[in-house]
Amino acid sequence: MNVMTPISDERLSAAAKAFLERPKQLFIGGRFVDAAEGKRFATEDPATGATITEVAEAGAADVDAAVQAARRAFEDTWRDMAPAGRAGPMFKLADLVGQHLEELAELEALDTGKPVAMARALDIPFAAEIYRYYAGWATKLEGRSYNLALQGDPYHCYTARQPLGVAAGIIPWNYPFAQASFKIAPALAAGCTVLLKPAEQTPLTALRLAELVAEAGFPDGVVNVLTGFGETAGAAISAHDGVDKVSFTGSTEVGKIIARAATGNLKRVTLELGGKSPNIIFADADLDQAIPAAAMAIFGNTGQVCNAGSRLYVEKPVFDKVMAGIEEVARSLKVGPGLDPDTEIGPLMSRDQLERVTSYVTKGREDGAEVAVGGSAIGETGYFMQPTVLTGTRPDMAVHREEIFGPVLCAMSFDDSDDIPAVANDTRFGLAASIWTRDLSRAHRLARSINAGAIWINCFGVFDPNLPFGGMRESGWGREMAREGVEGFTEEKAVTIRL
Ligand code: NAI
Ligand code: MG
Repeated sequence: MNVMTPISDERLSAAAKAFLERPKQLFIGGRFVDAAEGKRFATEDPATGATITEVAEAGAADVDAAVQAARRAFEDTWRDMAPAGRAGPMFKLADLVGQHLEELAELEALDTGKPVAMARALDIPFAAEIYRYYAGWATKLEGRSYNLALQGDPYHCYTARQPLGVAAGIIPWNYPFAQASFKIAPALAAGCTVLLKPAEQTPLTALRLAELVAEAGFPDGVVNVLTGFGETAGAAISAHDGVDKVSFTGSTEVGKIIARAATGNLKRVTLELGGKSPNIIFADADLDQAIPAAAMAIFGNTGQVCNAGSRLYVEKPVFDKVMAGIEEVARSLKVGPGLDPDTEIGPLMSRDQLERVTSYVTKGREDGAEVAVGGSAIGETGYFMQPTVLTGTRPDMAVHREEIFGPVLCAMSFDDSDDIPAVANDTRFGLAASIWTRDLSRAHRLARSINAGAIWINCFGVFDPNLPFGGMRESGWGREMAREGVEGFTEEKAVTIRL
């Protein structure tokens, strides 16, 4: 097949093409610079495997330069600026993201493979709202006043929050532009300065964001963007003594590596990791809603979602009906290149990811699971895969226990709803759970007993800037979004005054 050079792809707007033609450098201290060692690496289009462009590859020296720039910006300007002064450029950035929505959506679709319609409707506008929401928080951080329990003498005691300092965000490739906002926005609102390292597979929209940061009027060094690899740039960031916090989203495996690397200076660490989230459908549920939601909970974004509903439990009387409905959705979804306007499901991120996901399916088959629908890669070009449903999976199988991070659903039926809490909690993860029933007290009882940071009842995947999100157990440490998200970039001190 004749693979088109992505840069001349006629589906891209002039603005996106112009960005692709500009040099891709690191953004350090408000300037675009080459990597100290002059290295570069390619980013590819997962729909074709073709190289889109090359970007600078940050090494330890660049990390060091960015940490120093961020430290200076923290001490010289950002930390002590009036909160409304910090909010100003953040609101401006939110507006700029909105103004460049179409271009950003195209670049995101090209680099990740995700449907451009989804990037346009969800990823990019959601990021704009995150910048806007946290711009509002810059002026609303507060401490509390306390009365001492053991002292009769008059004391006035209060807590005050101060920014942690230099914060780093290390993010994955599944929602690059949105993930960048989850790290940058709360850190800036708290008064921290930031280093962002996007995933090596998806550096493009982070670099376009750096240009918008420059345009928004942030002081130099408040936001720095380092494109590079995890094992080098990411490791240098996590181990750097000048970094006060790492906020990481990605695999549980790397989350543990980062937690260990952080012990040198005991930097603060927030981890948003993987999951194997249960989706539970009772016989009394509104199946017209539950069925398409269950399908998109695992097929949406090609299953490359931390909170994907990857374990489906359906009450026996409606199991066949639900399975028929999900299989119909699986067969009818339009799988194609992200830049095609009518694509519903894009390719997987990379050849590695395609091989990883298809080998899980093979392993599931060997272990005795049946493939009800899908199961294979599609075509020779790009990293496409059929939406897949496995039945007959058992709790001891790898497909049932591990995060596959692809469009592969493990579906099971159940008889006795008393078993559900134990079944749902039989995992090392605890990110999310979805429950479909019209029996509200049952729903609330399950919400209590299931160990997950997000419980969705009669809905799935509802995210909001004002709702804390994060995992229990091996799904992570800490919470993003909401008040918790911004407070996570602060340290609290208690001040005691004898009157
Ligand atoms: P990863 O966890 O290796 O990559 C995420 C980020 O961490 C990237 O920016 C990467 O450069 C960085 N990183 C990698 N090694 C590092 C290190 N030693 N020190 C510091 N930073 C490091 O994820 P990967 O390898 O791309 O995907 C593998 C699997 O991880 C997926 O199949 C999926 O199961 C899981 N994953 C889960 C995500 C989630 O949101 N839950 C997101 C991405 C991957
Ligand atoms: Mg990795």
